[in-house]
Amino acid sequence: MREQDQPHPIGEAAGGLRSIPTDPVDRIVAEHTWQLELCDALEYIADGLPDSIDRRLVREVIAILGHGLEAHFRAEEQLLFPLLRQRGGGEPSLVAALDQLEMEHVRDEDVSSELLEELTFVAEHGRARNADMLGYMLRGFFEGQRRHIGWENAVVVPAARRLLLEDDLKSLSELQGRTSSRLSGFRKPPRQV
Ligand SMILES: [Fe+2]
Ligand SMILES: [Fe+2]
Repeated sequence: MREQDQPHPIGEAAGGLRSIPTDPVDRIVAEHTWQLELCDALEYIADGLPDSIDRRLVREVIAILGHGLEAHFRAEEQLLFPLLRQRGGGEPSLVAALDQLEMEHVRDEDVSSELLEELTFVAEHGRARNADMLGYMLRGFFEGQRRHIGWENAVVVPAARRLLLEDDLKSLSELQGRTSSRLSGFRKPPRQV
């Protein structure tokens, strides 16, 4: 069993914020990488249930889930996706992908607020209210996130690089610049050997 409050092998913010790319599309890609690290951390928590709980990791995940994802979703929904719809000339496969990804944002935000509630209980009490249910929720969330990010990296990012104009990139950069990337505080330390 892992001891509570000991450094964990998956994620920690001890190293401070990582540098944020200045190119807005590169920033989206970097945030996806950090989100995948968050997924690894969620899987680690799920694997440890019900007895092995790393409260430090749980608290870190709570901070990211509470603030880190929202800014990323907003940049995609408010600007990136509308710009791609506009610049893509209504290309059906792109429009369908963007519609699907937007629906997934709604679902993921709902699940993430439920997860926040359950993980806050874990951080406060050192145990899950219902470990089976939490494990199920965690797996549903990180598996969905990994698929979502895979689609965005495969479809949205190449489309953004192909279609966005200089002014579009400037607007996206300005919108991103108004929010700090809380996700950048989440980092995977070098693997211990
Ligand atoms: Fe997204
Ligand atoms: Fe994304």
